[in-house]
Amino acid sequence: MIYLDHNATTRCDERVLEAMLPYLSGMYGNPSSLYKLGRIARSAIDIAREQVAALIDASAARIVFTSGGTEANALALANARGVGLAISAIEHPSIFENAECYRRNFKYLQSLAVDRAGVLPLLSLDNVKWQVGDMASVMLANNETGLIQDVAAIAEHLSECGVNVHTDAVQALGKMPFSFKKLGVKLMSLSSHKIYGPKGCGALVVAEDFVLKPLQRGGDQEHGWRAGTENVVAIVGFGKAAELAKAEMGLRELRMLGLRTRLEQALRTIPGLVIFAEHAKRLPNTVQFGIPGINGEMLLMRLDQRNIAVSSGSACSASSGEVSPVLAAMGVDASLARSAIRVSLGKDNNETEIDQFVDALKASIAN
Ligand SMILES: Cc1ncc(COP(=O)(O)O)c(C=O)c1O
Repeated sequence: MIYLDHNATTRCDERVLEAMLPYLSGMYGNPSSLYKLGRIARSAIDIAREQVAALIDASAARIVFTSGGTEANALALANARGVGLAISAIEHPSIFENAECYRRNFKYLQSLAVDRAGVLPLLSLDNVKWQVGDMASVMLANNETGLIQDVAAIAEHLSECGVNVHTDAVQALGKMPFSFKKLGVKLMSLSSHKIYGPKGCGALVVAEDFVLKPLQRGGDQEHGWRAGTENVVAIVGFGKAAELAKAEMGLRELRMLGLRTRLEQALRTIPGLVIFAEHAKRLPNTVQFGIPGINGEMLLMRLDQRNIAVSSGSACSASSGEVSPVLAAMGVDASLARSAIRVSLGKDNNETEIDQFVDALKASIAN
């Protein structure tokens, strides 16, 4: 199979699997237990916390492990205070559905409009009547188009109004270097399974001067920020995946950019094909495109018959048949949006796979 859907999930790296295995058998202690078996598990979590912190230039003490990006986003929005909450119009469902859920807690819940490339202009921030303590949630990289938002500039702009900025960095993690400290945000969400780690694990990163309230209670795990016995195996895997991502970041980026350039050159020869956010700053692994008059879901199924896995957009909206809210927010015409296909490359894809994909795509369009 040719797997080109790495923004949906990635295969666990063999080295990650190897690091995790002992914690599934011999080292099964509860990290809260005081005896040796417990202390072994505790120190494995501490190491993983350092590994994740190192990847994003954060302080390990300010990282809380969660069950994934969705929970990290939910925990972040549960900590929205002030009278207003604003989110960009192209956020993941785990942001906009949680924001909706908290709507009654706020005087205003505002959607921040993006331009045709998906970029959030700083000027549009001035349309909101911010008050000190409000929250804005703006993702670092978009899961569909790969668009990279200038979160540092947004956080700087909003810090003057005393607004707390959260960023969903789930898709940016491991694909581009960034520093939590330099971005200047108060909260950041991460996920393990997008970086060759196990599923069901993620983290929320909390700035030193932000007081986090827990969403679930019943134990003092994770500094009291997230009660419940830790998923030691997955946390160890996340840590190892983060360590590998840090060590291999430069190589992975170069390799994926090379493959994406090859892919885009071939795509441009297909009549009428449109690459979304083509000229904007994007993740090196992501390209989303539309072909007028073609049904994206149908194309996806034809590619699947040829043993090629791609997505029509976000995995979460793939089954609903609705037009992608991300493309809608960018002003993409509904029929073109319905033709969308997202290719997201991974560290182990190669040129032959790209060429085979392009051949299969052309054949699938033809019949
Ligand atoms: C941008 C973004 N945020 C959050 C999530 C949710 O992460 P998880 O699958 O770890 O819950 C995803 C997953 O696709 C995502 O792409």
